[in-house]
Amino acid sequence: MHSYAHKNILDTLQFSKEDLNFLIEKTQRMNLLQESGKAFGILNGKLLASLFFEASTRTRLSFEAAMERLGGRLISTVGFQFSSISKGETLYDTMKMIEAYVDIAVIRHPVEGSSRIAAGAVNIPVINAGDGAGQHPTQALLDLYTIVSEKGKIDGLNIAFIGDLKYGRTIHSLINLLRHYPVHLYLISPEELKLPEKYKKNLEGYPMTWEETTDIKAFWDADVAYVTRIQEERFPDHREYEKLKDIYKVNKELVLASKKETIILHPLPRVNELSTDVDDLPNAAYFRQAKYGVVVRMALLCLSLGVNFD
Ligand code: NCD
Repeated sequence: MHSYAHKNILDTLQFSKEDLNFLIEKTQRMNLLQESGKAFGILNGKLLASLFFEASTRTRLSFEAAMERLGGRLISTVGFQFSSISKGETLYDTMKMIEAYVDIAVIRHPVEGSSRIAAGAVNIPVINAGDGAGQHPTQALLDLYTIVSEKGKIDGLNIAFIGDLKYGRTIHSLINLLRHYPVHLYLISPEELKLPEKYKKNLEGYPMTWEETTDIKAFWDADVAYVTRIQEERFPDHREYEKLKDIYKVNKELVLASKKETIILHPLPRVNELSTDVDDLPNAAYFRQAKYGVVVRMALLCLSLGVNFD
């Protein structure tokens, strides 16, 4: 078994290029097993705790679907309101107890760094499903898998990130993976929502190159355009959000003006930044991206649990 076995998935900085290539290969294998009906039963007898203390649709449902499709089972809690954390219990105590119940836990929490605290409390593998404005590693892994599946390669691509680069955890995570490849990034955002310095530091000394711009037209040169929502819930001052919320809109006209083969990705949910008139264009890859999430998470659950599926 590879270095994934019995490991937490907390931060995309933990992955080497070799790890990423291995995961892509394993996900392709998992996809074949899933399509031929042979995936069910691989996680027979295993139990997942699905702990979502912050809003989620795709991430929670795709993890739960992944577990069920492997024949594993799950227990879950959604929101603070219905967990003992609302009575003052610490995350540490909650995790200590969860450890006694299940084989693996997936956690989403509004506080940056919380998944590391959760993982530090237990000996079962913990998967970070989004910690505040910090990291969302499994989304990044499925985004990478989407790019490989849709474009057939990563090397040499121009990849544009558009929107909230300051608070968008999916961006913070994906750029750490892309740094291992010779790609060029266009970081398109308003001045107020630029990528924070601490994330730029992680890119130094890698084959990736990048440039920042406020001009959405940089989009026209992209092979992959990754559009993101302005993260309303992370703004300390709501007036600032109101000012920036409609700053960019990716619509049909803009997509038709770009390269013919440009694919549009979005982690979803979308608000105003991505128009529904893009949905019918062949460039729109975001619903396929959400679908890839299930097989990627199937592979990750098996790898973290140390269960082989060759
Ligand atoms: C993202 C998230 O939760 O960070 N959604 C997701 O997991 N697919 C993106 C977002 O909320 O904007």
